[in-house]
Amino acid sequence: MLRLRRYRMLLVCAFVITVLLYHVSKNSQWDHSSELWHSKADPHTQTKPKSPPPPASRPEHDHDHEHESEHQGGGQPQKSQHKPPPPTYPDSHGRPVPDPEPTIRIPQLKTADGVKGGYGLPTNAALPPKPAATVPDRKPPSNHDEYQNHGENAGMQVDAPTPTTVHWQKPYEWFPVPEESLIMLPTGKPKSIPAVQFAFGEESPAAKEKRELRLAKVKVEAQRAWSGYKEFAWTHDELMPVSNKSKDPFCGWAATLVDSLDTLWLMGLKDEFDDAVKAVKEIDFTTTPYREDIPVFETIIRYLGGLIAAYDVTGAHNGKYRVLLDKALELAEILMSVFDTPNRLPILYYNWKPAFNVNPKRASTGSGVAELGTMSMEFTRLAQLTGKDKYYDAIARITDAFEELQNTEGATAIPGIFPQQLDASGCNRTAPLPSTLENSSEAAQKQAIVDDDMWRAPRGYSNTYGGAADDIETNAQPGAQTADTGPGSNTGFHRGPQKRDGLPNSAPAPVNAKGLPADWECVPQGLTGGGWGGSYSMGGSQDSAYEYFPKQYLMLGGLEPKYRTMHEKTADAVKEHLLFRPMAEGDPDVLFSAKAFSTGGTAGKMSYEWEVTHLTCFLGGMFGLGGKIFDRPEDVEVGKKLTDGCVWAYESMPAGVMPEHSTVLPCKKPDDCQFDKAAWYASLDPNAEHRESQMADYYTRLAEWKEQVEELKKQDTERRQAEERKRQAEAVQKAAEDEERMRRLVDNTTPVYEGTPGQKSEPSSPELKQKDTLPATGFQRRDQRDLDASNQKPMSELVLPPAPDKPLTHQEYVAQRLENENIPSGFVTLNDKRYILRPEAIESVWYMYRITGDPSWQEKGWRMFEAVVRTTQTDAGHSAIRDVTSKELPADKEDSMESFWLAETLKYFYLLFETPDVLSLDEWVLNTEAHPFRRPT
Ligand SMILES: *[C@@H]1O[C@H](CO)[C@@H](O)[C@H](O)[C@H]1NC(C)=O
Ligand SMILES: *[C@@H]1O[C@H](CO)[C@@H](O)[C@H](O)[C@H]1NC(C)=O
Ligand SMILES: *[C@@H]1O[C@H](CO)[C@@H](O)[C@H](O)[C@H]1NC(C)=O
Repeated sequence: MLRLRRYRMLLVCAFVITVLLYHVSKNSQWDHSSELWHSKADPHTQTKPKSPPPPASRPEHDHDHEHESEHQGGGQPQKSQHKPPPPTYPDSHGRPVPDPEPTIRIPQLKTADGVKGGYGLPTNAALPPKPAATVPDRKPPSNHDEYQNHGENAGMQVDAPTPTTVHWQKPYEWFPVPEESLIMLPTGKPKSIPAVQFAFGEESPAAKEKRELRLAKVKVEAQRAWSGYKEFAWTHDELMPVSNKSKDPFCGWAATLVDSLDTLWLMGLKDEFDDAVKAVKEIDFTTTPYREDIPVFETIIRYLGGLIAAYDVTGAHNGKYRVLLDKALELAEILMSVFDTPNRLPILYYNWKPAFNVNPKRASTGSGVAELGTMSMEFTRLAQLTGKDKYYDAIARITDAFEELQNTEGATAIPGIFPQQLDASGCNRTAPLPSTLENSSEAAQKQAIVDDDMWRAPRGYSNTYGGAADDIETNAQPGAQTADTGPGSNTGFHRGPQKRDGLPNSAPAPVNAKGLPADWECVPQGLTGGGWGGSYSMGGSQDSAYEYFPKQYLMLGGLEPKYRTMHEKTADAVKEHLLFRPMAEGDPDVLFSAKAFSTGGTAGKMSYEWEVTHLTCFLGGMFGLGGKIFDRPEDVEVGKKLTDGCVWAYESMPAGVMPEHSTVLPCKKPDDCQFDKAAWYASLDPNAEHRESQMADYYTRLAEWKEQVEELKKQDTERRQAEERKRQAEAVQKAAEDEERMRRLVDNTTPVYEGTPGQKSEPSSPELKQKDTLPATGFQRRDQRDLDASNQKPMSELVLPPAPDKPLTHQEYVAQRLENENIPSGFVTLNDKRYILRPEAIESVWYMYRITGDPSWQEKGWRMFEAVVRTTQTDAGHSAIRDVTSKELPADKEDSMESFWLAETLKYFYLLFETPDVLSLDEWVLNTEAHPFRRPT
């Protein structure tokens, strides 16, 4: 029970927080902090990932973002070329970097026509010129006309305000791979690989009818999402399906549009596909007003993968969509720059502006495993389609580094699996310095340490897909005034403490014979467990690196055996160290993959988080696929149980959809496991013992309190009795006195009362006036109030001390938690109750159906589909929801529809009810964004 004192405290706190929030939100710099405040104020959101900050294209959301894009009539976006604030979207780890004075100025060209609504990202398109320096930088163009007028001047060199759209330019290549050292794409006749798909037979007319009905229903939902995107977010990255607005977290290159191409094609939405291809032509990958950095992983899986797959499904070289490959190559050209590091391991957040690309770079000491390992299929397919080995070389070196790490004794705590974060810098910072490198190495190492400290803090945030790595681009800093990209020039080098302050180094730094900074060299090393990477799992930040081993084996027609070995080592390690069966009511015979933490750097000292996360649901499909192609039947069985785990998690939730992140209780013995309610309760309330002692303590205090109360009551009764006696005695005395006085008055004066007794009349006698205190009706009016008013003690109520608060018993505590947090049976925590339209569960269900031919997978998938549509559907599309433990409809929505909804989730639902020859797994292999690439034949 809340007592007043506490209540008052809360009110005061709430007021203080409100005032703080107000001040904090007044300052745009602090927008982010205010979010933190919110999440701190609400314990239920504390463990949740931060909600995305106002997207760039939601001007009303934040006044400081007013200058950003806004829909105009016909969808023509109105944009300022001013730098938007550094994006802080969850998928972005781009650290905020100062906007350098652009070094490249290109004349503005005419707006691209022919695309419905123009282009989301004005590329060479007309833009309002940059205001003169005195104009406040953040002022938006005030109206459409102004925008148009400036647009008409496009291409002309107007006075002072000049267009400043910065474009990527191919930077000088510091560490080229000599032609003769290129790792060549394996060629030759593909190996025979066991069939993946079940040998499906004839379908009964009834089964066909049911299947086709479901297929049509999936298509209707895809059309709903696509039309919403088309109407409200055309050429932007994402539709906001509740507010009918758009946002651009992925550089604004129309992520949903590119990601959806092959889905449209598969669903036979030809007109929609052609519209989209027209828009693809206009994408300019060389610039973005939304981000300083290109998120390499997301860009590869969504954009590059989307373009290549759309090209493949439309017939590749025999098809009619050459433009799709051309655009893929344009993008690849930019992305190839990220491999220009001494060890050819990639930069993962690429600061694309020319001013950032002056100096040599190293890969990050905190690179996410998934981000490093999820490029192989896309670049391999590109190499196959173009015959250019450089694309294959780029990813083959990453694979080799992974393979070396996997084969190095003691390099990881769980041999076969990598820690979540890897040091890809290639510099051994613990090595003693060889004399030849003495001076330079020391400087380089100091540099690396500074870099590391500098970026470590923001790196802590781990997200959905990528790791939380920020790239350390040694020596690369804005502030390079000129684009001197040549090796002979050294004015571009700024390093050491100077660059931290953003101050240009006035003295030219020395360069070595290669034109590299003199302190560039360091003791080389391979990939190592870097940063704080003591965690091992198949979940976010790691997932697709492993997913790509068997898939890449298929891409190469089995001609590169290392992908098989690597997969087998991973699969064995997962089975030995990570798989567990959850303990839950009904004893479901399912599996999940845990997250393990190593403290000592070995598998000996492990602690586990028994997590159930949506991202990890891909694992069933991976075990199924790997089990089939490498002839490991046990793995196929593991795949089924993993997939059934996710089906169970979906069906356990009141919404019928599983949450982003939760934990369960593991069975002690997987093959003999009965639900133990006491054990589950104990896990829900690890403080049961403490609660018991609290209870005992409470009873003691209660007894003491009762005694105290009895004593107080007794004292009070005695006091009252004494008071009563005194009062009576006084009254008797007063009465006697009054009588005496009255008697004297009657004796001395004539009565003057004119009215009836009881009515107050003006006494005519001055003496009576003086004796006004005399009550007209005698002492009857001397009631309680008069006693109080006089100097006597009030007959107050007895104030008792409050009874001690009764703590909750273990049972009560657990019951309350289950009720308040809506925790379904078997679950222990629900750290993130959202469902954000993710595909991994239906992905594995689809693999299981194609692999086993068992129609029960279609039934499971259909139940998922109905639950997902029921809870996420909006008028304009489908939205992420906040709480899968709520049954209530309509569900609480987040106004977000990520591009993987159309690219993956709806595609897998659709394919589950398509005939199995469409995208047969014996002809196609799907990347981690569900983009199909054709397998070699
Ligand atoms: C770094 O150097 C030290 C000392 O030479 C060596 O023991 C260690 O194995 C090296 N680390 C790597 C990852 O090569
Ligand atoms: C390192 O620098 C010192 C002076 O700072 C110099 O005497 C020494 O020769 C240098 N060593 C090498 C290997 O260049
Ligand atoms: C969004 O658009 C749909 C039509 O596609 C409409 O029904 C709905 O009311 C719109 N919502 C808002 C918030 O404008």
